[in-house]
Amino acid sequence: MRILKLIGLGVAILLIVAVGSVYGASEYAARRTHAYTPSAVRAAVGPEAVARDGRLAVVYGCTGCHGPQLHGQEWQDDAMHGRLWTANLTRAMPNYTDAQLVAAIREGVRHDGRGLWGMPSEGYIEVTDAEMADLLAWLRTHQPAGAETPTTRFGPLGRLNIFRRESKTSPAWVTEARANPAFDAGPAFAHGRHLAATLCSECHGSNLKGQPGFTPDLLMAASYDAAGFSSFMRTGVAADGKEKGLMTEVARERLVHLSDQEVADLYAYLRKRAEEAP
Ligand code: HEC
Ligand code: HEC
Repeated sequence: MRILKLIGLGVAILLIVAVGSVYGASEYAARRTHAYTPSAVRAAVGPEAVARDGRLAVVYGCTGCHGPQLHGQEWQDDAMHGRLWTANLTRAMPNYTDAQLVAAIREGVRHDGRGLWGMPSEGYIEVTDAEMADLLAWLRTHQPAGAETPTTRFGPLGRLNIFRRESKTSPAWVTEARANPAFDAGPAFAHGRHLAATLCSECHGSNLKGQPGFTPDLLMAASYDAAGFSSFMRTGVAADGKEKGLMTEVARERLVHLSDQEVADLYAYLRKRAEEAP
């Protein structure tokens, strides 16, 4: 009997240590603060800037996740994983200086220095200062409105995923993306590369090599001819005549707003990358 009690005690202690480590590691990830590069970018002024970048906010997916009015929406809410809403940006923005907004978008750092969760900053590291100035101009036209979004909460499975480093804060993903840039095909293809790095990397990976079980390597684009690629970007119907789930939504909601020149530059870069990337 005594030995059984000892084993029971041992198991109980192990459990407490395990739960404590998972809790500790996830709290650390959530609470630690991150330094960011202070940016000199300020919101551009004038109606042209606002007009230019209402479009970028759609193409970059801000309105897709934060909602057409930027009031935020439920992203995940279940007892096991936890609760995460995309922020109501109209209410969050007054807490941010322009430089802090740039840091939130490009580096995933909240105004208080903590890392954001689920904000795909790893896809925005290559947004240029000029684009950022226009984007801020448009964002700043929104006055606080709509309900406060509920605070983030972590469930036990959510904490376990953080402990196992499957779930990470945006600054951690940004660090990974910076170490894995998209293939550089030289100045003639720089614009196409910029479009791929800012429009496709969120899902196809910073190096465009795809994410196992989610997205293919963008080498796949080279199997399309120019007309087929353009039609896929506009209609979401792939070369095989089929719709492709999330990719089809991205085409219809975001990529449909690209100009013919942008689609052509994107295609030229992806073809070149397929020929030359190691
Ligand atoms: C895939 C969905 C997604 C996309 C696309 C996205 N966001 Fe976010 N964003 C989120 C989530 C989720 C949060 C909440 C993070 C948190 O609270 O930890 C967030 C948080 C933010 C915050 C911080 C708000 C706060 O409460 O402090 C800012 C600023 C922001 N996003 C701006 C943008 C802008 C600008 C764009 C487009 C360039 C964009 N987001 C695109 C999901 C997204
Ligand atoms: C929000 C996520 C997301 C973004 C952003 C995104 N994709 Fe995709 N893409 C997907 C997913 C998911 C698939 C796999 C779809 C399937 O096979 O059901 C996919 C598949 C593809 C395919 C393969 C189609 C086929 O014939 O099977 C191509 C080509 C492609 N994407 C190109 C692009 C390009 C180019 C961009 C940027 C301009 C882009 N995607 C941006 C999610 C995304």
